[in-house]
Amino acid sequence: MKLITQLMLGTVMLGAMGGFAAAQDALVVGFSQIGSESGWRAAETSVTKQQAEARGVDLKFADAQQKQENQIKAIRGFIAQGVDAILVAPVVATGWEDVLTEAKDAEIPVILLDRGVDAPEDLYLTSVASDQVKEGRVAGQWLVDTLAGKDCAVVELQGTVGSTPAINRKKGFEEAIAAAANVKLIDSQTGDFTRSKGKEVMESFIKANDGGKGICALYAHNDDMAVGAIQAIKEAGLKPGTDILVVSIDAVPDIFQAIAAGEANATVELTPNMAGPAFDVLEAFLADGTVPEKFIITDSKLYTAADNPQGEYDARKDLGY
Ligand code: AHR
Repeated sequence: MKLITQLMLGTVMLGAMGGFAAAQDALVVGFSQIGSESGWRAAETSVTKQQAEARGVDLKFADAQQKQENQIKAIRGFIAQGVDAILVAPVVATGWEDVLTEAKDAEIPVILLDRGVDAPEDLYLTSVASDQVKEGRVAGQWLVDTLAGKDCAVVELQGTVGSTPAINRKKGFEEAIAAAANVKLIDSQTGDFTRSKGKEVMESFIKANDGGKGICALYAHNDDMAVGAIQAIKEAGLKPGTDILVVSIDAVPDIFQAIAAGEANATVELTPNMAGPAFDVLEAFLADGTVPEKFIITDSKLYTAADNPQGEYDARKDLGY
């Protein structure tokens, strides 16, 4: 049954049957989550569940374990169940057109969370995400400003291959350093947004560059990879944050601890609360057809040692990261 009809029936039944009818009429939303590759991802999952609970939304959660095929299967399952809406955090950018068309044909609105897709915009209601090119630019600009003309060989840990944050954060960073002849990107590989892969790839960068002495800075597409890389830098006998500057993205508690300890230098914040704005616009759309902006952009604030990292850690440590 479509939600508009459900809402009308629900109002009648609520009067006739009381609370049971209200429970029956809860908004049902399917959420296809990528997995749990990072602290940020864990926080996004927690916040989405909390937001759903606070609003009385019946959230059907599906963890895709990093596989697009699992996400497509979950979305098809949500369509078969006749959910009122679908949230999806797309692991990679391509390959969504068919399943999004199926959702559209079934008149189920889809909202993209935190990552984008290469598909026609009419196949989803809105996208709640950061400006990922800007995140890369903010990180790159911080490095250029901090170096103040000093020569610097940079290594880059990219996110998941084919994902929009990996593509866009690389682009933004390269744009920011393009005019700085003193800053050179000497190596760039994927660490798949995980701590363990970040460490492993940083070890290989260190090995290939004079035991790390040939590296002046690390740019990681997320904090988890940076935290793994910091461990690799320490094990190589170097000081992260001093011998090798570290800049990354997400603003998770662990990176604030590293900044407070002088082992990381800067992070760009990505809010884990994508679901709040998503549910706001979804509720308005389902209530009276209000069509949201196609792209709802979250902030990208830079944090450094000057921004009370210990306080930021304390404020975030119990938020589900
Ligand atoms: O899509 C957002 C990115 O995905 C986060 O920066 C990263 O930590 C996560 O895995």
